[in-house]
Amino acid sequence: MNSFIWKSNSTFIFRHGARKELSHLVQGNRILAVTGGRWLRDTGEWDAIRIPLENRGFKIERVAVAREPSPEDIDNTVAAFRKFAPQTILAVGGGSVLDAAKAIAAMFCHPEKIEYYLEGIGKESPTGATLPLIALPTTSGTGSEATKNAVISRPGIGGFKKSLRHDAFIPATAVIDPELLRFCPPEITIYSGMDALTQLMEGWISTGANTFSDMFARQGLELFAASFPAVLQNPGNSDARGNVALAAYLSGMTLANAGLGTVHGMAGVLGGLESLPHGMICSRLIPPVFRHIAGQAEDSALARISWLGDCFHQYWFGITENGTEGFLQLLDQLEQLLPEQNSFLDEQTLNLAASKSNDKNSPVSTTMEERKRFFMDAFSIE
Ligand SMILES: [Fe+2]
Repeated sequence: MNSFIWKSNSTFIFRHGARKELSHLVQGNRILAVTGGRWLRDTGEWDAIRIPLENRGFKIERVAVAREPSPEDIDNTVAAFRKFAPQTILAVGGGSVLDAAKAIAAMFCHPEKIEYYLEGIGKESPTGATLPLIALPTTSGTGSEATKNAVISRPGIGGFKKSLRHDAFIPATAVIDPELLRFCPPEITIYSGMDALTQLMEGWISTGANTFSDMFARQGLELFAASFPAVLQNPGNSDARGNVALAAYLSGMTLANAGLGTVHGMAGVLGGLESLPHGMICSRLIPPVFRHIAGQAEDSALARISWLGDCFHQYWFGITENGTEGFLQLLDQLEQLLPEQNSFLDEQTLNLAASKSNDKNSPVSTTMEERKRFFMDAFSIE
């Protein structure tokens, strides 16, 4: 058994309506809210969060994040609100918003610009100093509310997608309110759900898996298998939304402690080269990569693939077999769920992405040529 140290939020709340009762979680008096786009305001959900806090005397400033954050997005936000001197950061949004908030919270407590501390780029590691962060996810995917890293991107050739990472950057508090998830649009529901599924499956078969990560991965996979079809059928089903949100949270716990595999080893690199959403890249890579893994896995990894087939066979119509055969049927079904897309990847990008990507903690290793083929299959390139 792999040795491990377990890290997680200090407080985790899962409750319908929890977004309206955040005041007891706030430290100090000044809150900087980092939120997503317009829908939060247009649906009245931002008021549902803000007004109870203002009624209790908290001062709130708000900044909106509309994309995966760049180093400049983080540095500019910290500079703009330095005078306000927030005492708590409140993040309400999808994975990019939560990552931005994590980085903003940390950079208020570090003297240099963020690039100085980014993994694989900066001169220094972050100290771990940060502001208290309350994370409320509005999508069920990245599990960022449970993890210690913030992904920061500068897309394009010569660009990068790197993490700001420290154990202390796990949000102090994560709050899942299933009612906040019912507005998530269908395409984002699919892409973010596929991201969570990838993280659970990669953590489940990871060479870095341990007793705890297995426990969370297995429960997350069961919740996802049982409830994701219900969410797709009825987006307003907040019980099913809650289960998928918990699955996504568990995927974050799993990845933070067991690591990830080939899909993420490839998705991270491609996401640094092209402005494509992370969940979309993962969604498209799952079928080709996992078909390869299912064909090559041996011993305990093969037994775990087989368990995945058993798990989904219990819940998904159209999966008629147990074991590895059922798992291959699942991959066919996931392919059917994917929305149409017209992303074009040129030869140079494909070669660069295939050569720079890796298998992380996958039990099955791949060659650069195989990874290039996975990209081509994923994006229907002949
Ligand atoms: Fe992911």
